Amino acid sequence: MWSLGQFTIISTLLLFLQHHVAVSSPSGATTHLSPNMQKLALFQIKRSLSINACDHVICEEEGLPSYPKTMDWSMNSDCCKWDGVTCNQTTGDVIGLDLSCSCLVGSIPSNSTLFQLSYLQNLNFRANDLNGILPERIFHLPNLKQLNADGNFNLTTILPKIKWGSSSSLQMLSLQETTISGGIPHSVGYLKSLTIFSLSSCKITGLIPKLIGNLTQLTELDFDFNDFSGTIPDSFANLQNLKYLSLSDNKISGQFPTWVANLTQLKLLDLSGNLLSRPLPSNLTARCLPELMLLSLSYNLFNGTIPSWLFDLPSLTRLFVDHNSFTGQLNEFKSSTLRTFTCANNLLSGSIPILLSKLASLISLDISYNNFSGVVKTTTLNPDILDLRLASCKIIKIPHFIKSLEKLQYLDLSNNQIVGEVPQWLWKGSLSELNLSYNYFNGGLQHLPENRLIFLDLQHNKLKGSLPASICNSSSLYVLNLSHNNLSGVLPACPRSSNYSLSVLDLRMNRIRGSLPSSLSNFRELKSLNLYGNEVEGTIPLSFAKFGNLEVLDLGSNRINDTFPQWLEVLPRLQVLVLKSNKFHGTINSISTIQHSFPSLRIIDLSNNEFSGPLPAKYFENFKGMMNGDANKMGSIYMGNSYYRDRVKMVIKGVDIEVLNILTVFTTIDLSKNKFEGQIPEFIGNLKSLRLLNFSHNHLSGHIPSMMGKLLMLESLDLSFNRLVGVIPQELAGIYTLSRLNLSHNDLNGHIPDGTQFQTFENDSYVGNLALCGPPLSKNCTREYIEMQDEEDEDADYFFSGFTWEAVVIGYGSGVVVGFAVGYIMFRTRDPKWITGIIVRKIGLKVRRSEIRRFF
Ligand SMILES: *[C@@H]1O[C@H](CO)[C@@H](O)[C@H](O)[C@H]1NC(C)=O
Ligand SMILES: *[C@@H]1O[C@H](CO)[C@@H](O)[C@H](O)[C@H]1NC(C)=O
Ligand SMILES: *[C@@H]1O[C@H](CO)[C@@H](O)[C@H](O)[C@H]1NC(C)=O
Ligand SMILES: *[C@@H]1O[C@H](CO)[C@@H](O)[C@H](O)[C@H]1NC(C)=O
Ligand SMILES: *[C@@H]1O[C@H](CO)[C@@H](O)[C@H](O)[C@H]1NC(C)=O
Ligand SMILES: *[C@@H]1O[C@H](CO)[C@@H](O)[C@H](O)[C@H]1NC(C)=O
Ligand SMILES: *[C@@H]1O[C@H](CO)[C@@H](O)[C@H](O)[C@H]1NC(C)=O
Ligand SMILES: *[C@@H]1O[C@H](CO)[C@@H](O)[C@H](O)[C@H]1NC(C)=O
Ligand SMILES: *[C@@H]1O[C@H](CO)[C@@H](O)[C@H](O)[C@H]1NC(C)=O
Ligand SMILES: *[C@@H]1O[C@H](CO)[C@@H](O)[C@H](O)[C@H]1NC(C)=O
Ligand SMILES: *[C@@H]1O[C@H](CO)[C@@H](O)[C@H](O)[C@H]1NC(C)=O
Ligand SMILES: *[C@@H]1O[C@H](CO)[C@@H](O)[C@H](O)[C@H]1NC(C)=O
Repeated sequence: MWSLGQFTIISTLLLFLQHHVAVSSPSGATTHLSPNMQKLALFQIKRSLSINACDHVICEEEGLPSYPKTMDWSMNSDCCKWDGVTCNQTTGDVIGLDLSCSCLVGSIPSNSTLFQLSYLQNLNFRANDLNGILPERIFHLPNLKQLNADGNFNLTTILPKIKWGSSSSLQMLSLQETTISGGIPHSVGYLKSLTIFSLSSCKITGLIPKLIGNLTQLTELDFDFNDFSGTIPDSFANLQNLKYLSLSDNKISGQFPTWVANLTQLKLLDLSGNLLSRPLPSNLTARCLPELMLLSLSYNLFNGTIPSWLFDLPSLTRLFVDHNSFTGQLNEFKSSTLRTFTCANNLLSGSIPILLSKLASLISLDISYNNFSGVVKTTTLNPDILDLRLASCKIIKIPHFIKSLEKLQYLDLSNNQIVGEVPQWLWKGSLSELNLSYNYFNGGLQHLPENRLIFLDLQHNKLKGSLPASICNSSSLYVLNLSHNNLSGVLPACPRSSNYSLSVLDLRMNRIRGSLPSSLSNFRELKSLNLYGNEVEGTIPLSFAKFGNLEVLDLGSNRINDTFPQWLEVLPRLQVLVLKSNKFHGTINSISTIQHSFPSLRIIDLSNNEFSGPLPAKYFENFKGMMNGDANKMGSIYMGNSYYRDRVKMVIKGVDIEVLNILTVFTTIDLSKNKFEGQIPEFIGNLKSLRLLNFSHNHLSGHIPSMMGKLLMLESLDLSFNRLVGVIPQELAGIYTLSRLNLSHNDLNGHIPDGTQFQTFENDSYVGNLALCGPPLSKNCTREYIEMQDEEDEDADYFFSGFTWEAVVIGYGSGVVVGFAVGYIMFRTRDPKWITGIIVRKIGLKVRRSEIRRFF
């Protein structure tokens, strides 16, 4: 702590400094500050930024230590010894400032003393929470060599339109995951010393500037995950030092750039996720690209045959050409270096055995979803292969050579035509992930593997018999999907054990009988339990309240005869609760003993049961998971009809794996087809993130609460077949997201609200309310007489036809599965992260760019 005297001196000095900053020219041509003044300038930077929670996602993901470096900066010590500060040992000038992962929040104003540190060469603000605009002055620091501001998600940068002060010195510019406003100006053409240029995930639109071609010193250029359109400029042919070029995930069109042949040092070329089309050039030679290790052309519109030079590249270890429209047969590879090859989801044809030969180093092969055929016999496949995916290859028998692949970890034979029993030898090998779904496997499932296998997908087969008792002995199994088979028998009663790792148990659409054993909750790790569409009876055991990790519980379409399982309200993570189409009955006593019942619930479906009494109003007041208006921000639709994005962290055997975009669910309440009575509680209006609300086919009375007008994200509202009276609140017309409305068959009266939204609904939305009038009904709002309508469509379920919960829950379940599979492969093959990133993306999961580390 300083004395008052010291404080006064410092304040005076700061005043001087500020004045000094203010008068110096914006181009950064500043006078030399003494080391003491530099110290003061640094101290002022410390004072202008605040310290936040040290939980930046990049630091966490990359395992970088994250702590407030500036905390210990004290005016009493030599600033050259401050954490993050580097000085020139001779002169004492501050030349480096590394404040990455330093938990900083705040902005750097254009009068910041930072810009007085004219000797600064390296400036690193990576992974903080800086916001406001990054002042242009930063680019005029005359000696700046490296600038890194990656991952300040709220930081906006405007690059200088004219010459930069640091034009001649700047070697590294990395602004990943910030926002570049106004595109890339031509002035970047002056950055003659630039070797690393990364603007990944910066929301940049427009064309890639031609002048990038002037930056001939570039070794790494990373523009992926932006919105660049147009073609790649031919001037890139000048970038002869380029080793790493990634333009993936943009909207780049045109053909494969033939100038690539000039970039003889290239090690990585990633053009995946664009709109590139036409056949690949056939006149390139493998000699042009002697260093190329990774080539990804995935997710484009390329067609024609795959030219032979691709298979001859001497250093190539990874080749991704999946998700295009390539046709013809594959040439034989001459490459002995290739380790990973995927050509899945094209229109390639020919027979499999030829293809598989000669790849002596191959450890990962995916040829799924093409038009390959032929009996798979022995091959000269690398016996050390780890990952083999032959989905949808018209295979009718499990290829026997697989038995000899002693290191195989991942096998996908899904979507083939394999009949017969699941061979027991599959349980013995090294496999950790096995996908045999969508085949014709029949017979029973006597055993499950006792170790190793982590993920087993046998959905959509013809398995019969009962569930194997050895499920209780499986300590490694994490995901077990046996849905859509003919399995019968009862659920096994497994003893208590700390060994279970089962997280996803999907037995949907089988013929499982009997009651739910209370020992089921011994599977403490369960995240998702799905028994939809079986013949389960009895009641829900009280022990289910011990499922502390459960996120999805789907018991729909069974024969459960019980009252509402109120004790599930304690489950902290339960997000999806589906009890539809059972024999649940009785009133729901929603007055709970705990403070937050169902704190995470986002989907509740109790439809088609015999529940009676009032709606569970108290629960509505507790559904925190549905009140979160923030869901708005995450509104981007990711897969199909899913609305919610989340991240789930999974810990498997001590390995932390985080996968994005796992959870994709609606926020929904469906209590239709019961005998609920009484009024609709006003509080429902507070469940702000609700997308779908269905109270139809009950005995509800009273008015439609005007509070419902606050459900501004509601897309579908069904209150039909009740006894609601009064007018339709005008407030409902303010829900602009509403695209489906059914108020039919009530006792509503008066004007249908004005408002564009309401005029778009058809008559059907209102029929069976004798006293409703006005457009779109043909009946005018006159008081004279009420026309009788005689629509008697009691069972009209047309309204939501086509909508099933299954779609939602499947989306969830397989998300976990895919995520897990990815994570596991990542872990097992010990690939560098940047490879993993591409692999992950290949399966359709978006990864953070920062996950993909460079290999230089
Ligand atoms: C920068 O300018 C703002 C007003 O624009 C002022 O409040 C602040 O004290 C100044 N900071 C410095 C370091 O000069
Ligand atoms: C330190 O300063 C001296 C004198 O200006 C200079 O010669 C030397 O290159 C500098 N060192 C560094 C690491 O910048
Ligand atoms: C971005 O800024 C908004 C407010 O402007 C804030 O709510 C949000 O937390 C910030 N996000 C990050 C990642 O800093
Ligand atoms: C870029 O290179 C071209 C031709 O080599 C040259 O005419 C132009 O002046 C350069 N532009 C900049 C900004 O250096
Ligand atoms: C690219 O390579 C071709 C053929 O080798 C050569 O004619 C051309 O000059 C090269 N272009 C550049 C910009 O170096
Ligand atoms: C390949 O052919 C295209 C025209 O089809 C031509 O533009 C390109 O320069 C050729 N490349 C090489 C390396 O010969
Ligand atoms: C490739 O697709 C284009 C249309 O996008 C088509 O005109 C062309 O014939 C196709 N070429 C081949 C070889 O299939
Ligand atoms: C798939 O391959 C078969 C021959 O194996 C061929 O008859 C058929 O036309 C091909 N289908 C497509 C869509 O290319
Ligand atoms: C489970 O393992 C124990 C000991 O390894 C064994 O005795 C028992 O038979 C196994 N149970 C099943 C159902 O496989
Ligand atoms: C539910 O079980 C009770 C007895 O526990 C029985 O009286 C009732 O009939 C059952 N309901 C149905 C619909 O089966
Ligand atoms: C409704 O009123 C309009 C004018 O207000 C009239 O033209 C129309 O004929 C009336 N329709 C019915 C069915 O009475
Ligand atoms: C297994 O294969 C099926 C069919 O190809 C697919 O839908 C499912 O997602 C696969 N499972 C995983 C985890 O990849």
